[in-house]
Amino acid sequence: MGEFFNLINNRQSCRKYLDKPVEKEKLIKCIEAARVAPSACNSQPWHFVVVNNKEIASKVAMCVQDKVMNKFTSECQSFIIVVEENGNLTSRAGALMKQQDYRSVDLGIATEHICLSATQQDLGTCILGWFNEKELKKLLNINKLKRIRLVVAIGYPETNEIRQKTRKSVNEISTFME
Ligand SMILES: Cc1cc2nc3c(=O)[nH]c(=O)nc-3n(C[C@H](O)[C@H](O)[C@H](O)COP(=O)(O)O)c2cc1C
Repeated sequence: MGEFFNLINNRQSCRKYLDKPVEKEKLIKCIEAARVAPSACNSQPWHFVVVNNKEIASKVAMCVQDKVMNKFTSECQSFIIVVEENGNLTSRAGALMKQQDYRSVDLGIATEHICLSATQQDLGTCILGWFNEKELKKLLNINKLKRIRLVVAIGYPETNEIRQKTRKSVNEISTFME
């Protein structure tokens, strides 16, 4: 299938983690992968708060779960919190002129780089968009005016089994103009 397709196929949302800490070097690699991600006007409008401490992680887990959602995060010992930064003037002017949300797009791309790097290092990830932003900012001492856009749960997966992807077909999602 090719190395690239193997990697993107092996990335899947992991919702069961082993009780095993993640090596700091692996998390640094994930941030290095995010670092080289493209962004509008090369603005790099991101900051990553890396939580790699069992005690703090359990507090983060409390901020990303409620009665129904994300209960599985209690087992997770590492998180990367994706914080939106202002970016540069050109990207902000462009976003305004073109009425596009480039910063969210940029953060999404960087987040996927993190997940793919983690996958390549035999780690499991789950991107989380459901969290208590206010509580999370308070816990991690993040400026009230900033936005946390995503949280990535990271850890060693309980199983290495890769699920079949449930996706729309190529025909459904694309139009070729030839
Ligand atoms: C922006 C975004 C937010 C998400 N939020 C959550 C979440 O809060 N909780 C969760 O369990 N999964 C969350 N997911 C994971 C998706 O459910 C998952 O990517 C999708 O169902 C496809 O499955 P896969 O990741 O295993 O391929 C989120 C994914 C994205 C991209």
